[in-house]
Amino acid sequence: MAKTCNVALIGQGFMGRTHSNAYLKVSKFFTDLPVNPVMHTVFGMENENPQVFASRWGWKNYSTDWKKVIANEEIDFVDIVTPNHMHMPPAMAALEAKKPVGTEKPIAGTLADARAMVEAAKKAKVPTFVWYNYRRCPAVALAHQLVKAGKLGRIFHVRCVYLQDWGGPDTPLLWRFQKKLAGSGAHGDLNAHIVDMARFVTGDDIVEVSGAVAETFIKERTIPTTGAAGGIAAGAKGSAKKGKVDVDDAVLFLARFKKGAVASFECSRLATGYKNQNGFEIHGEKGALRFRFENMNYLDYYDATVDPKIQGWTSIICTSGANHPYVSAWWPDAHILGYEHGFVNQAADIMMVLGKKTPTVPLPDFADAYETQRVLEAALLSAANRTPIKISEVK
Ligand SMILES: NC(=O)c1ccc[n+]([C@@H]2O[C@H](COP(=O)([O-])OP(=O)(O)OC[C@H]3O[C@@H](n4cnc5c(N)ncnc54)[C@H](O)[C@@H]3O)[C@@H](O)[C@H]2O)c1
Repeated sequence: MAKTCNVALIGQGFMGRTHSNAYLKVSKFFTDLPVNPVMHTVFGMENENPQVFASRWGWKNYSTDWKKVIANEEIDFVDIVTPNHMHMPPAMAALEAKKPVGTEKPIAGTLADARAMVEAAKKAKVPTFVWYNYRRCPAVALAHQLVKAGKLGRIFHVRCVYLQDWGGPDTPLLWRFQKKLAGSGAHGDLNAHIVDMARFVTGDDIVEVSGAVAETFIKERTIPTTGAAGGIAAGAKGSAKKGKVDVDDAVLFLARFKKGAVASFECSRLATGYKNQNGFEIHGEKGALRFRFENMNYLDYYDATVDPKIQGWTSIICTSGANHPYVSAWWPDAHILGYEHGFVNQAADIMMVLGKKTPTVPLPDFADAYETQRVLEAALLSAANRTPIKISEVK
């Protein structure tokens, strides 16, 4: 019989719901996990009424004291879904107690916090995880497998975007617009995902960043009156009083990979017309790949090795069985997956690692997510100093 693992969830906002849904569903779809999660305790702030959240999502217990939750001997795994500045304190508490720990992305609000977490994880010698969930879309996982199998050959170009448009002037000063809470703006929120995806799909590391431009279009925003934590814009209302924004709304930069590919990254919260469009285009000597999250069931592939008469982009529906990653756990061919399935897939992979089995595709741990954080830091340094930055100089 499979073992069980008592999970504590620290936070109950947007990601609190996606992770709760993942723990609720995972053992029902992935029926042969070595370890099954038990939804033991959820932490929420006093004004969030964690009792209601716990009963809605099936958490057995709730608490407004995260330190007590983590110290509870019954808890086996700590999962952190708080704003970025609040990743490190609970992560350190979990690691001190030698408990495996996962955290939302980016790993932390600052590089120094991220480094401390990596060092503590090394000492604790327990598994760590960062929820870069887009890796677990079947199309993105397939792209990783195709590159690994050599289908693209030598890679020349990597082009990544993450574009949203909810950050207009009417959006209040949520935590995401405050440096002390978020670390950075669209950069740590959105570029974090595409830097991780680019590193994951290519299997290569970025060694230099240059030409970075960071812009804050909306310099002041109204102080929120509702949904004070305010992780998402929907429904958040502002008062008459305004506060200063000290993070970016958009960041663009260029990069070089170790094996020679060149790359561009662009993120924005003011890309009118795009709601959650993240994606990549990768061009290699033998072929190319193209992914867009708003059409997430598809991966486009161009095979440059076939007869030129029949060369062209093929749109592969990656939820059609055919050994596509994760799909056998879900519905019949092409019965279409969505955003939440990536989180369930990640919960399944975490349980595989906790049960000492191999996940479907590699999971980022703290050390891996720290490498993404160094690239993000290099881009901010490049923007501030108007100069190229070698990743080896960013520690
Ligand atoms: N993987 C993704 O697709 C994705 C999407 C959105 C957010 N995120 C990440 O998830 C994390 C949380 O974002 P969110 O959108 O869920 O935010 P949110 O504001 O909706 O929820 C954050 C929750 O954290 C808790 N919290 C807030 N302030 C706290 C404090 N000072 N101390 C302790 N707990 C506190 C509260 O329970 C709150 O509901 C962030 O790191 C963010 O970058 C990831």
